[in-house]
Amino acid sequence: MSTSLQLRSSESEFTGPPREWFFGEEWLQRDIAAVFDPRWLVAAHVDQLIAPGSAVSMTLGSRVCEVRRTAGGDYIATELGSGRRLHAEVWVGFVFVSFATERPASLADELDKSGLGGYDTTRFKLAAFKTHEVEANWKIVFENNNECYHCELNHPELVTQIDWKVTEAADFDQYMLDRAAGREIETSNKIGSYSTLNNEPVSQRLLARQPGIGPANGSWTVFWEPGSGLAFAPDHAWMQAPRPTGAGTTQVDQYWLVDVDAVEGVDYDLENLKFFWDTTLVQDKHLCESVQKGMRNPVYQAGPLNRRFQGGNAGFYSWYGAQVKATYPELF
Ligand SMILES: [Fe+2]
Repeated sequence: MSTSLQLRSSESEFTGPPREWFFGEEWLQRDIAAVFDPRWLVAAHVDQLIAPGSAVSMTLGSRVCEVRRTAGGDYIATELGSGRRLHAEVWVGFVFVSFATERPASLADELDKSGLGGYDTTRFKLAAFKTHEVEANWKIVFENNNECYHCELNHPELVTQIDWKVTEAADFDQYMLDRAAGREIETSNKIGSYSTLNNEPVSQRLLARQPGIGPANGSWTVFWEPGSGLAFAPDHAWMQAPRPTGAGTTQVDQYWLVDVDAVEGVDYDLENLKFFWDTTLVQDKHLCESVQKGMRNPVYQAGPLNRRFQGGNAGFYSWYGAQVKATYPELF
């Protein structure tokens, strides 16, 4: 009896990078040079820099960038220690910086082309900021963010608003090819309307939005490399921005935005506003740290990625591998 089912050997499946790429200073420096230095990184929100002369710092590996607001209202980014002036640009109230030598093409211009789901981002204000220190290599954190295969068992709150099959691959191989070729920005509307527990509003004052643009229910997300994303809901928006602070440590910054006229304690409760996404990220922090512990075992070997539900991970590693290969061709 013949069958059309083609069984593949696990040796022929895509696994992502080998174990040693996740450890040590040498690989961290390669990753930073190939992935982070050439790109724009979220360093701050302008509402953290209201007073002239105020400053915040952002760490990437062993380097620290200071973002300072001038008396004239500009934002100056400087690498501490070297004093080197870094590139800066502002998008949707976020100050992006780049450690690149040459100023990269504007990410803000590219993100604006996505249409922002019709939201009027000029009316956003920062309601909350929170950072998680994750004891795991940055690639583990990014990989986790690129799939939902783990969601059903680990994110009881998230799966009230998102089908864990959301990352089901339409064409695994083509997606990997597209990502390797440079696809770095993606939009979707696959999260529940409010991206909150039980889909209930967390702010009584809705965000301003142009009618007829974007999905009717207001669910809209935009993701861009390296690893950042902004999720809009009718009443609030949330951003996460992860980056390595060491070979085995990753800082994940979260920002919550509400309408500029929303009043804390009246229109929204701060803990309620943060609950849905922060709960999910605490769960992910524990997952990533467990993965890192497992990978410390010298007998660890990367297993095949699921061609149906881990296309996001495979796409990420395909893109990442292309960056490393372009920067360090001698390694291949
Ligand atoms: Fe997760």
